[in-house]
Amino acid sequence: MANTIGNGYSFATWTRFIEESQIRALLKYKVKYYYAGGKPGIIPTDIFADIMADLSVRYKENPKLALEDLNYGPTGGESWFLKTLAKRLHDVRGIPIDCETQWDNVTITNGSQQALYALLDTLIDPGDVIITPSPAYLGFLGPAEKLGARVITIPTDLDGIIPEEVEHAVEVSKKKFGKCPDIIYVVPDSDNPKGTTLPFKRRQALFDIAEENDILLIEDSAYAEIQFKKKSKPIKTLDKENSRIAYLGTSSKEAAVLRVGYSILPSNVKEQVLKVKGYLDLCTTSLVQRILDEYYKNHIDEAMRVGVPKYKERYEAMAKAIDEAFPAGVRTDPTGGFFIWWQSEDKKFDAREFLQRVGIPNEIIYVPGTPFYPQSGHRLTKDNKDVRESLPENNTMRIGFSYAPPDIISEGITRLGNLLSKELG
Ligand SMILES: Cc1ncc(COP(=O)(O)O)c(C=O)c1O
Repeated sequence: MANTIGNGYSFATWTRFIEESQIRALLKYKVKYYYAGGKPGIIPTDIFADIMADLSVRYKENPKLALEDLNYGPTGGESWFLKTLAKRLHDVRGIPIDCETQWDNVTITNGSQQALYALLDTLIDPGDVIITPSPAYLGFLGPAEKLGARVITIPTDLDGIIPEEVEHAVEVSKKKFGKCPDIIYVVPDSDNPKGTTLPFKRRQALFDIAEENDILLIEDSAYAEIQFKKKSKPIKTLDKENSRIAYLGTSSKEAAVLRVGYSILPSNVKEQVLKVKGYLDLCTTSLVQRILDEYYKNHIDEAMRVGVPKYKERYEAMAKAIDEAFPAGVRTDPTGGFFIWWQSEDKKFDAREFLQRVGIPNEIIYVPGTPFYPQSGHRLTKDNKDVRESLPENNTMRIGFSYAPPDIISEGITRLGNLLSKELG
């Protein structure tokens, strides 16, 4: 049946079954206690003001440069910016890339969200299989389901996704759906939404599974720079041939929301991703690349030295208030990133309903856990031999500590805890 909207034309089928992104839905609220979207609250605005002031002088002195930067550029990014990013990925994250000869293995997109979409668009036909943690970043799940992927969700614990279960899922996918999964998706450092970090042993195990089964592993490292303890080695360090892992980074969390994501993709994957990007937006703004080039060359280390401890303070304020004020439940204990995940002991609690009825009228927003589960995904049966419908855990919430200052976190989370205690007894 056509999805008619009343004035003669009809919408595509997916519009009927894909809900609006909850990130988008919640970004529109302005409340006092904002713990929803992964909004950075510590942006080095002075640094960016200085960079832009310098740039304005440079452009006046050199109109030719201005003309270039205010023009269309290459779809995959400006060479000078890709070289800067390649150097950082090599020097700071230890990624095996020769900055002199392989800098063009780096690609940029309009945010890493665009890279996720383009990767899915490149790899997924309806009915193809994807493996994700349960719960998983909703910005990945939405497009995956829109494109018709079968999503198999894998249990997670306080260390993230469990590789043995991934192995079972690969086998079940082959038997049940007659095909090997195309993608394993993980956020190894301070995951969105749970905040967990994968130990190296699990990283190695996931890489081995991907290698053995010819699966593309998407390593979404959005929070790799926002780490309170020692940074973990990326899974990408194992991918010496650049053939197995799509490694994604983003400036949104570690710089500013200038909509630049950067990735290292196997070359055949990269070609297709750029084909998609070419049709989505032609290219990323060169002016923004110029600003970020200066930031990544000369300012990021200082910005992180100052900024990361501030995020840690926010995290500590939130963890303390949850521990003191929340009713019975469990929370994760992140060592970086932007989020804590809380699950009520009461299984009947519905965090979505509570947000609308109690949270928002009390000036509080978090993201209910429900949208971090696929709308119609699969999970392994107890004996690991089959799959059945995956179900959301509605008694969960993702609470973001990145945006509000510590006093507003203590105040609002205590308030939320008291409201929850009243509700749940
Ligand atoms: C895990 C993860 N991946 C990707 C993104 C998208 O980031 P952006 O498009 O701003 O680079 C986000 C944003 O919250 C995220 O948390």
